[in-house]
Amino acid sequence: MSELDPRLAAIAGLIPFGSRVADIGTDHALLPVSLVKTGRASLVVATDLNEKPYQTALHHVLEAGVNGQVEVRRGDGLEPLRPGEVDVVVIAGMGGNTMAGVLERSPEVLAGVTRLVLQPMSDPGDLRLWLVHSGWRLADEELVRDDGKFYIIIAAEPGEEPCRDGFMLEIGPVLLEKCSPYLVEYLEKIKGDYQRVLSGLARSRSDEAMDKAIALTSRLARITEVISRCRQGAV
Ligand SMILES: C[S@@+](CC[C@H](N)C(=O)[O-])C[C@H]1O[C@@H](n2cnc3c(N)ncnc32)[C@H](O)[C@@H]1O
Repeated sequence: MSELDPRLAAIAGLIPFGSRVADIGTDHALLPVSLVKTGRASLVVATDLNEKPYQTALHHVLEAGVNGQVEVRRGDGLEPLRPGEVDVVVIAGMGGNTMAGVLERSPEVLAGVTRLVLQPMSDPGDLRLWLVHSGWRLADEELVRDDGKFYIIIAAEPGEEPCRDGFMLEIGPVLLEKCSPYLVEYLEKIKGDYQRVLSGLARSRSDEAMDKAIALTSRLARITEVISRCRQGAV
């Protein structure tokens, strides 16, 4: 796994050894090549919607000599997959709502999948909400910091998620439970985002802005309390 950056290495770490994996939106195919070389995956279907990344992936897979174990296909979301073909679906580097849309469109492929490993670039709370309302439980999460940026990686498995609290789903119930080393910094960043949105809303007099401000003020109080408990190591 040594050639992977911390984000991709953390994604790989959430894939059970020997899995049959699909990497949706693979681009460079760095992850599939590493997964088969390290034995994490017995085979990978690597897909991409666009011609240029599809060609880049094909080239990298051939160059790495793993074309017997990594098949590159071009197509939208899970559409290039046949039901029952893979155990684990990875989607990394897209927005959380785009990922939810991709998953929503292919229930017949998802029916045979035992784990999703998702690394949303935005809106992780919306993605968690979609997961828990679509028959997935939050099995594990990682918080990675690389080059000054935070990355969240969510592993979900079929089942009932006990957490249904919108605020907790926004910040990540598993991240809180695991108390990652970067958790306080990450929560402070979210708190800063809440404060910025609140000061924008304060300039508006509309009823909608008032309602949003009330909801956000409550979230601000909750996140302040969570940060204080994290600092005391009492989460
Ligand atoms: C930012 S790159 C992420 C690459 C890689 N997964 C990673 O995390 O390093 C996003 C890739 O997703 C592809 N993509 C975007 N929408 C897609 C879709 N609906 N289905 C398949 N691939 C898609 C893009 O062409 C692009 O190569």
